[in-house]
Amino acid sequence: MVTFTLNGKQVSFDGDQEMPLLWYIRDEAELTGTKFGCGVAACGACTVHADGVPIRSCSTPVAAVEGQAIKTIEGLSTASEKAVQSAWRELEVAQCGYCQSGQIMSAAALLAENPAPTDSDINAAMDGNLCRCATYHRIRAAIHEAAKRQTG
Ligand code: FES
Ligand code: FES
Repeated sequence: MVTFTLNGKQVSFDGDQEMPLLWYIRDEAELTGTKFGCGVAACGACTVHADGVPIRSCSTPVAAVEGQAIKTIEGLSTASEKAVQSAWRELEVAQCGYCQSGQIMSAAALLAENPAPTDSDINAAMDGNLCRCATYHRIRAAIHEAAKRQTG
């Protein structure tokens, strides 16, 4: 049995402990905002937060998050996280949208840690999040905009 919190709610799972956390999130908890892309920790589409740290849920076994606080795109709620979401909307960052949940989760984790990131901070933090539609310039602009908004 593994127990953790998912978007603030205590959950437990007594199935296959080696099952990827992404499967739990999408199939058991029915939170489908987190996407499956590559399945091998190479694209970032499945990014969620574990105790505030971005992780690839496709390659994290459920057992590994015992006792941790897992947050998905559906659980974003702090002022900083809302600033990311509103900047994303206003700058119309998304194109097909498939990668964007993971992009937003990585951006939110960056801004929680570093409220005024430079371009190179952004490049380093977002490096593992791929976008086939090449929205990278809008992602960077939205992170700067969210940083401005969260610092007032
Ligand atoms: S689906 Fe997890 S990193 Fe690509
Ligand atoms: S918006 Fe299409 S893959 Fe990123």
